[in-house]
Amino acid sequence: MNLKHITIHQMRLFHSLATHLSFTAVANELHLSQSGVSIQIKRLAESVGIPLIEKIGKKIYLTEAGKELFAAADDVLNRLELFNDDIEDMGQSIKGPLRISGITTSKYFMPHLLGRFLKDHPDVQPALTITNQSKVVQRLTENLDDIFIMGKFPLNIELETNYFLDNPLVFVAPVNHPLANEKNIPLATIANERFLSREEGSGTRAFRTRLFEESDLKATTYMELGSAEAIKQAVMAGLGVSVLSLHNLQLELEAGLLTVLDVEHFPIHRKWYAVYPKEKRLSRTAQKFLEFLLDEGTKTLREETLRKLQNYREKTW
Ligand code: PGA
Repeated sequence: MNLKHITIHQMRLFHSLATHLSFTAVANELHLSQSGVSIQIKRLAESVGIPLIEKIGKKIYLTEAGKELFAAADDVLNRLELFNDDIEDMGQSIKGPLRISGITTSKYFMPHLLGRFLKDHPDVQPALTITNQSKVVQRLTENLDDIFIMGKFPLNIELETNYFLDNPLVFVAPVNHPLANEKNIPLATIANERFLSREEGSGTRAFRTRLFEESDLKATTYMELGSAEAIKQAVMAGLGVSVLSLHNLQLELEAGLLTVLDVEHFPIHRKWYAVYPKEKRLSRTAQKFLEFLLDEGTKTLREETLRKLQNYREKTW
């Protein structure tokens, strides 16, 4: 391998290629021609001396050497980014990339918080990935973002965990549900209802399954839907009941389109955390956003959550 010939530019191109597995995506992302990207990747492979990618049909795969180089490029580029941050820190500026990934329900508050943060720091370039619990854990394992919003974190990585918001889980049902006015409905009774589940990998789904199994009840699923939005529509359509975060339901409850059932143990209080690996050195921008999230952002959100819970108890939407 002739390391002398490998350039940072090639590392950047290869990092992008390994992330998107598409030459077109690399060309678009880095504003280059596709042929320019191909030439650089070819030269890089020549310097390394063994193939970095293989094409099967139209799909691109990383070879073992490609995977190793991806990890190395990731280290080098992150280090350079931190160096860049350090230089900028000397000028005290908050700018550059801010990458956050969060569990599904964070879509209801993260854009608002980011909006407020960006008002004061317009040169920050935010990227927000909203997905389910297991995919956030995967992104954390692959070190793809700065801050991760999640309810249950993996135990095999040393993490900084910052409790940030309560996540009350409630049993949601159509407004005309026969149990709508019942008090303290036993779990065994509700277990006979048609249950609408989130997809595998959802933390909310895993939690409900655990809760039922701990009570020796079968956590059967009548129908699986891929998102909380789809579940809400299905509940409104009378297809069944479900467990969702109270944060998911504000508009529908206020509009009287859904109701929450008073089931024993519920609302269940889970917590959400802003997490990052202990070994990671947060950029100044990410550090500043975390401080904002834990301080100002959290205060408003906690007040809102308390108000929602109050409404839930009194059923006055
Ligand atoms: P999810 O959320 O159901 O979107 O995975 C997980 C959580 O709230 O912990």
